[in-house]
Amino acid sequence: MNKSDGAQHYRVSEIRGKHKTRALQDLEKDGMIYVDGIDPEPLDQVYQQAKVFFCSPDKRKYRSLGRNWGWFVDERKFDYCSRERFIIDSSEFVAPVKYAKHYLEEKGILPAKRGMWPTYRDFPGLQPAFSRVYDHWLAFCSGMLPGYNMGSLHVCKYHVARNPKFKISPHTDDEYVIAFRPEGEALEICGTNGWISLPVEREQALLVKPETEHRVRNILHKVRYSAFFSYLADIYTGHNE
Ligand SMILES: [Fe+2]
Repeated sequence: MNKSDGAQHYRVSEIRGKHKTRALQDLEKDGMIYVDGIDPEPLDQVYQQAKVFFCSPDKRKYRSLGRNWGWFVDERKFDYCSRERFIIDSSEFVAPVKYAKHYLEEKGILPAKRGMWPTYRDFPGLQPAFSRVYDHWLAFCSGMLPGYNMGSLHVCKYHVARNPKFKISPHTDDEYVIAFRPEGEALEICGTNGWISLPVEREQALLVKPETEHRVRNILHKVRYSAFFSYLADIYTGHNE
């Protein structure tokens, strides 16, 4: 363990072992911890497959598939960039389309096309790549964090835009977020001394606790890709130590 940039570093093996309690205390205190020593290869595959998907014509993306997959375009009209998002989700919110629609509308996210879902018949590499990362991090979170054993894996493409101030405007989430290495601007977190930038390397992930304010500035004016795992927290019962 060591501390840099306002966040403690823990190796995966330490978190799984005798340092779990300490890691949770640091997470509570600082709002985030680095998880070092993760296998980067499965995430590389996710990015690779997601890019194939994002770079395909919309017509191919729109074809229907099974459940638990979603592709959405968030409408961004104000001070942040528009994005496409691909999600795999185990919760009841996203499984049936009618719930997904309600859930997404409540969150201000518009499905790209009403009732239509993307297909994995056209994108055979997506499901294995996403499932592998999803299963791994769901198991990791279930073993470490107080929560409901439900999560979702998101891969986002933020479009190029010069004027918006943010790729992601400042906000908090109700879930734990495991942010993987982005391609583009780093995640910034609002700590006790103001905003700090938290770059994530290829063999790292950043675990952020619920209600921690974060943002991504639009500095580079280039496409940004990011991937994160969101874990539904039980924030009322405290840590399951
Ligand atoms: Fe967020």
